[in-house]
Amino acid sequence: GKVRVPTNIVSSICDDRGEEPTYAGVDMSTLMVGDRGVGDVIALLWFKRQLPKYATRFIEMCVMLCADHGPCVSGAHNTIVTSRAGKDLVSSLVSGLLTIGPRFGGAIDDAARYFKDAADRRLEPDEFVEDMKKQGIRVPGIGHRIKSKDNKDKRVELLQKYASKYFPSTKYLQYACRVEQYTLTKQANLVLNVDGCIGALFLDLLNSTSLFTQAEIEDIVKIGYLNGLFVLARSIGLIGHALDQKRLQQGLYRHPWDMVLYTK
Ligand code: ACO
Ligand code: LMR
Repeated sequence: GKVRVPTNIVSSICDDRGEEPTYAGVDMSTLMVGDRGVGDVIALLWFKRQLPKYATRFIEMCVMLCADHGPCVSGAHNTIVTSRAGKDLVSSLVSGLLTIGPRFGGAIDDAARYFKDAADRRLEPDEFVEDMKKQGIRVPGIGHRIKSKDNKDKRVELLQKYASKYFPSTKYLQYACRVEQYTLTKQANLVLNVDGCIGALFLDLLNSTSLFTQAEIEDIVKIGYLNGLFVLARSIGLIGHALDQKRLQQGLYRHPWDMVLYTK
């Protein structure tokens, strides 16, 4: 009989061998029909399935709303400095992307993990927050450098508003809001941030489409798909910053001495 040569790679999300490439079995021509967009592509390539319109629109909103947040945040700052050091687009982009992590933009997966665990165990928000404090862990998805109780994050409001209108259930978001209510009693900047809001709402999305089994949801949360949303989104802004610096012909950046406390 035929002997199959051993394969080097196993891949399950796309196929480019036919007349036209397919994403999770959906061919390009189909994707170009109607009002399908990048949310549909993310649904296919990340989640390996088609998702309803309200879900793909939500994904697109996350990408649009997280695309940029000014030149002062960690990611944009790194990209600007790198671009001004004369480096190419890819180097400037990855330099910014490398700042995405537990403090900046990359708290979505952990927010989803902790909110899910606490809500599923029916922990009261104060119990949850105090437990985290005892463990010395800051609640992922809570807190912001410039946003606060009286200066809430518009992105969070917009996502909440959309979900309340279109999601079948917002159980996890409601839990996250109760956590925020409690943390705000401690400190005014301990708001539900955009990472936390996306983390909670994605749990609601996964649970409410009935397109995912509980085992799949556990897997998505465990593997950590959701920081990818911020990485993807912020790449748009970072590319903008890298190009902006070249366009503005900005020279090498050197941090001013008076902005540094030299100490022994
Ligand atoms: N949970 C509990 N307590 C907190 C939290 C939190 N998430 N954030 C701040 N605090 C409290 C702590 O008591 C902290 O003191 P500590 O340093 O002894 O832990 C105190 O507030 C002051 O913290 P600061 O570091 O001064 O707060 P800062 O404004 O610098 O932090 C930050 C902002 C980094 C976002 C912080 O709130 C945090 O780590 N949050 C969790 C991670 C997160 O969600 N990041 C995503 C932010 S949104 C985005 O990047 C797109
Ligand atoms: C962001 O989206 O970059 C932020 O929420 C972080 C910040 O400090 O503005």
